[in-house]
Amino acid sequence: MTAPDSDRDAAVQRQYEDYPYPHRVAADEAMRLLTPPMDYLAKISHYGWRGAIPANPRFLVAGGGTGDSTIFLAEQARTLGGTVTQIDLSAASIGVAQARAQARGLNNVHFVQGRLEEVATLAPGPYDYINCAGVVHHTADPDLSVRALASVLAPGGAIGLMVYAHYGRTPTRHMRDLFARLLPPDTGNAVRVGVAQQMLAALPPTNALRRADADGGLIKGLLADPHELYDLLLHPRECDYTVPQFHALVAQAGLSIASFTQFFLDGGTNKSFYRAENYIQDQGLLARIKALPEIEQQAIAEVLHGNITLHSAYLVRDVAAVATVRQTGLVPYAFVPDIQAVAALLEQNPGRPLQVVDSYGNGITLQGQPGLGGILALIDGRRSVHEILTAATSLPALAGQPNAIHTAAGALLALFDLFNQFDWLLLRAPHSHPPIAQDQHAHLTATLL
Ligand SMILES: C[S@@+](CC[C@H](N)C(=O)[O-])C[C@H]1O[C@@H](n2cnc3c(N)ncnc32)[C@H](O)[C@@H]1O
Repeated sequence: MTAPDSDRDAAVQRQYEDYPYPHRVAADEAMRLLTPPMDYLAKISHYGWRGAIPANPRFLVAGGGTGDSTIFLAEQARTLGGTVTQIDLSAASIGVAQARAQARGLNNVHFVQGRLEEVATLAPGPYDYINCAGVVHHTADPDLSVRALASVLAPGGAIGLMVYAHYGRTPTRHMRDLFARLLPPDTGNAVRVGVAQQMLAALPPTNALRRADADGGLIKGLLADPHELYDLLLHPRECDYTVPQFHALVAQAGLSIASFTQFFLDGGTNKSFYRAENYIQDQGLLARIKALPEIEQQAIAEVLHGNITLHSAYLVRDVAAVATVRQTGLVPYAFVPDIQAVAALLEQNPGRPLQVVDSYGNGITLQGQPGLGGILALIDGRRSVHEILTAATSLPALAGQPNAIHTAAGALLALFDLFNQFDWLLLRAPHSHPPIAQDQHAHLTATLL
C-alpha cells in the first residue's frame, strides 16, 4: 500500500527540515563562490534569451534548498539591478540560504516558504529565468508542478529544469527498493540514516550500487554526508524520466527543450551526451539512427550512454529563443579561457590535426584545415558574425578565392557547432551585454596529433 499524498508531502518536508540539501555552511562563502553550470547568465542568454540580457532581470529559484543557485544568480544579478526569489518548503533550508546571502552581503534575494505548486499566488513574478533543479520529481504531481512554473514565466523567459533520468538511476532504484522494505514509513529519520549507513558499509560486491561505484567514491561520500544519503536513497517520493518522458513533461506545460545542458560542477552531463554520433562510429548504423525523429535519436543516445543519472535542460516557449550563428548580427565569444591559445596553435600549424580537451574531459578533434585558426582568432567577443566573415575573406588562406565569404561561412558554422557542443563558444547580442561571468574552471588543453 502506498502512503497518501498528504503523508508523503509531510515526509518530504520533514526530510528537508532534518537534512537541508545540499549540506552547506555559510562561513564557506568567504572562501569560494559555487557556480552551478546551468545558472550562468551567459548560457541562459544564449539558449533562452536570443543572446540578450533583460533589464533588471527577475529570477525564481523553485525548491532552491540551501541556496547554491540562489546565491550564484544573486551574485550575477547584483550588477544588473536584478533580483532573485527563492521558494522552498523547508524553513531550515531557507535559513541556510539566507545565512549564505547575508554572508555575501546580498540584498537582492527574497525568500518565500511554501509549495512551488502555489507559486502563482505566493510569488507571482513574472520571471525571466526560473531554476528548478532536483525538485519536481519529488512533488505529488510533477506535470502540475512544471505547469505552475510555466505560469509565472515572463514572455521570452527561460526555465532551467533538472529531473532524474531513468536508466542511469537503476542502481539507486535498487537501493530505494531495499530500504522501502526494510524501513517502515513510521521509522524516524535518524534511524533511517543509521540503518542505511550500516547497509552501505555491508554491500556485497555484486550489488548494483557497489558495481556502479568502481572507485568507491560515491559510497564513501554517502557515508560521510547524511544529507546526501537521505536525498539519494531514502527520499519518501521520487520518479524519473526517459528522454521521451522528459520531453512530454515539458510539452504538457506548453514548453520545449531548447537544449540539454551541463548540471554537475565537475562535468558529467551535457548536450553532447544526447547525440548518437558520439557513441556510434559505424556510418551505416548511425544513418539508421539519424533517420529517426530527433527525440528518438536522443532516447537511443540515453540508452547507449547508459549512465546519464539526470536530465538538465533549458526550456522555452519558442525554440527561436536559442541564439544561432546564422543570426549574423550576433557576437560569438569564448565562454571558457584559452580559446585564443587554441587559435594560435592552429594558425602556427596549418594542416596538422589538433585535439582540444576541457577540464571536464570533453574533447574534440580539429582536422586543422587552413584558415581555421585565423577564423577562430577573429572570434574576439567584439566582432559580429558578419564582421568575422568579412574579415576572414582577407585571411591568407582565403584571400583571392572567388567564394571566400561562403568558404568562411562554412568554416565558421562548423567551428561554432563543434565548440558550442560544450559551450566553449556562445553568442550574445551586440551592445546589450554587460560583462557577465565566464566558466573559469573549464580550461582547454590543445595537443597536436
Ligand atoms: C533535492 S533538493 C534540491 C535543492 C536545490 N534545488 C539544489 O539543486 O541544490 C529539493 C528541494 O526542494 C524542496 N521542495 C520539495 N518539494 C517542494 C515543493 N513542492 N515546493 C517547494 N519546494 C519543494 C525541498 O525542501 C528541497 O529544499
